Amino acid sequence: MDVTIIVPTFNESLNVEELVSRTQAAVGSRSVEIVFVDDSNDDTPAVILDVAARYAVPVRLIHRDVPVDGLGGAVLEGFRVANGRWAVVMDGDLQHPPEMLPRLIDTALRGEADGVNLVAGSRFVEGGSAEGLSDGVRVFFSHFGNGIAKLLFPRKLAKSTDPMSGFFAVRLDAIDLGSLKPRGFKILLEILCRKQMNLVEVPATLAPRGGGESKADIKQVGRLTRQIVELRIGRMPGFALIGFIGGIANLAIMWALQQAGWTYIEAAIAAAVITIVGNFIAQEHFLYHDLRAGARRLWSRFGHSAGFNAIESAVRTFVLWAAVELLHLHSHTILTQAALLVIGFLLRYTYHERVVYRQ
Ligand code: GDD
Ligand code: MN
Repeated sequence: MDVTIIVPTFNESLNVEELVSRTQAAVGSRSVEIVFVDDSNDDTPAVILDVAARYAVPVRLIHRDVPVDGLGGAVLEGFRVANGRWAVVMDGDLQHPPEMLPRLIDTALRGEADGVNLVAGSRFVEGGSAEGLSDGVRVFFSHFGNGIAKLLFPRKLAKSTDPMSGFFAVRLDAIDLGSLKPRGFKILLEILCRKQMNLVEVPATLAPRGGGESKADIKQVGRLTRQIVELRIGRMPGFALIGFIGGIANLAIMWALQQAGWTYIEAAIAAAVITIVGNFIAQEHFLYHDLRAGARRLWSRFGHSAGFNAIESAVRTFVLWAAVELLHLHSHTILTQAALLVIGFLLRYTYHERVVYRQ
């Protein structure tokens, strides 16, 4: 199967039949299935099963009695159960007209050979439109959100004009489900920011909703803010933790080796080597496991990582000396070193994100 169309639904019984019938007509002979991931507390599941029996296109229903993580969680559940090589995500309220599917799907399947792994519908490219954003407040938030996101993730969102879109196709073997956190409504943003994707955009129309009411509310603004903060901070806490444990281990090893009769210089060198290797192994396994496959080779990662750390500590020691002597900071050496450690940490983190594990 080429494509699984994932449709998250929360009380959308009024829209299900029209969505299935228009989707079936639009996709024609393409190899697709529709999976509804439903968290409704009305008759939507029954309506889906009834419609599934009456249309030729394969329709499956995943009803979650205990919904986890709302819309985002539903989309991830769809990714997990999909049979297709690609997953298309589409709203269940007809705001994403199913007639847009052929262009999205064909762009994905044609681009596959060139490495395209994400095709997103955008309201903000030539031919797209956001007519269905019911009021000025939503139009404002839509642009504002896009702007902030692009400022915070300039590289990952460089090619995206609409990272908040809810209509997209993604190649399932290109995403690491474990790394996606389904907070809030914005799974596309999550996919774009977790990993460098090979994105192509197609114009999309956001039509007015079919029947029923929107489930978006002011809480979503808070969730989106939290999602963006988490994405931005990313692996920094984990990176800091590994560095901290490495520092403690370094001291412990140095102490143990001196107890065993080594000189302090020998012990310090051995401790440095062991912690450099240990830190690297910990980073590889606990922090960047999902990025290893797409990054440079193992020895190159090790060389860059260890090399940068060594240079950083040498330069830091020199800068400490220069700062203390030139700026006469003799009574503030610990404070100066603390400031330099923070700067060094940020540099090392940035270097690992941008160079060592660059995709
Ligand atoms: N399973 C499940 N669980 N589905 C949900 C939930 C939930 O908790 N909450 C909402 N949905 C479903 C709705 O039934 C609908 O099919 C779709 O998700 C979008 O929800 P709406 O309530 O219609 O939200 P919206 O119109 O504000 O947001 C849409 O447009 C945005 C573009 O501005 C969503 O598609 C966003 O993802 C999109 O970014
Ligand atoms: Mn909607």
